[in-house]
Amino acid sequence: MRTYRLALIGFGNVGQGLAQIIRDQGDDIARQLGVQITIVAVSDLLKGSLYDPDGLSPTALLDAVQTSGDLNGVAAPHRDWNAQQTIAESSADVLVELSYTDLESGEPAVSHISQAIEKGLHIVTTNKGPIALRYPRLSALARDRGVEIGIEGTVMSGTPTMALGQDLLAAANITRIQGIVNGTTNYILSQMENGTTYNAALAEAQEKGYAEADPSGDVEGFDAAGKVVIMANVLMDASITLGDVARQGITGLTPQDIETARSEGRRWKLIASIEKTASGVKAGVRPTRLPTEHPLASVSGPTNAVTFTTDLLGDVTLIGPGAGRMATGYAIVCDLLGIARKVQPREK
Ligand code: HSE
Repeated sequence: MRTYRLALIGFGNVGQGLAQIIRDQGDDIARQLGVQITIVAVSDLLKGSLYDPDGLSPTALLDAVQTSGDLNGVAAPHRDWNAQQTIAESSADVLVELSYTDLESGEPAVSHISQAIEKGLHIVTTNKGPIALRYPRLSALARDRGVEIGIEGTVMSGTPTMALGQDLLAAANITRIQGIVNGTTNYILSQMENGTTYNAALAEAQEKGYAEADPSGDVEGFDAAGKVVIMANVLMDASITLGDVARQGITGLTPQDIETARSEGRRWKLIASIEKTASGVKAGVRPTRLPTEHPLASVSGPTNAVTFTTDLLGDVTLIGPGAGRMATGYAIVCDLLGIARKVQPREK
């Protein structure tokens, strides 16, 4: 049995989704797949911090957050450690980095991840900031230290986009990626088409756990642009930055625009695209009026989709959840299973 002892930095929607999966499916995952997942530490700026080397009960963590909004009522031998102390002093062997996304500096996640790699911890993160901005440096550091970085949840939540592109299509030569990679905006556009106002649809997306802590990252297209950078650099061997992505969000779209498109048999979608050209990679995120018979036009709500155009296989399309607490929590489980497959157990 392989055991992974997790330190969670951040206990928002994704951390809680992961705790719920461990609570409900943890025994089955251990029995069927031989990987036991235990949370030993949680450090959250607002909800509080706990460390128990014998493991924290996911049920107790979830019940506490649900009843009081924080972790203060959960018994643990150590508490109030900040992220740095949690990484330095806990016995975790995996850092699960879930702090808030900052697409300008990547901090504090870049520092958390660097510190954990130096200590020899594997990393699993759904945080787009450090991966869009610092992946080459962080992955080189991880290679030097012999640890893995799992990034499945940075794009399309638990829908295995990165695994498909990195592992299964590695030899197929991806020349173009096109898709819908933000759940919040796709949800808003679908709801607006059903007559909901923009503000009400955004509030619903926040309530359902799709939106970023600062939803302007979603509606202005920054979140999708971050995912474009990650896919271009990790899956297409490019070396682009956010500034290279031509970006436009959905805030300029009016109910009238949506109604006009509908009456013309079209539908607005926030389309992300990356294409290899003779002069390098061309990347963009922009609202696009698709004919309703276009395959991406029927991808609605928080569902996302990407089409990989490859030399050897032609087009390969993946459709699945793009956001949501359980869907993104699942990405972390996927990455842990991936680490278990790649890495030989360490001598203790
Ligand atoms: N806010 C993101 C979205 C979450 O709506 O797609 C998943 O990355």
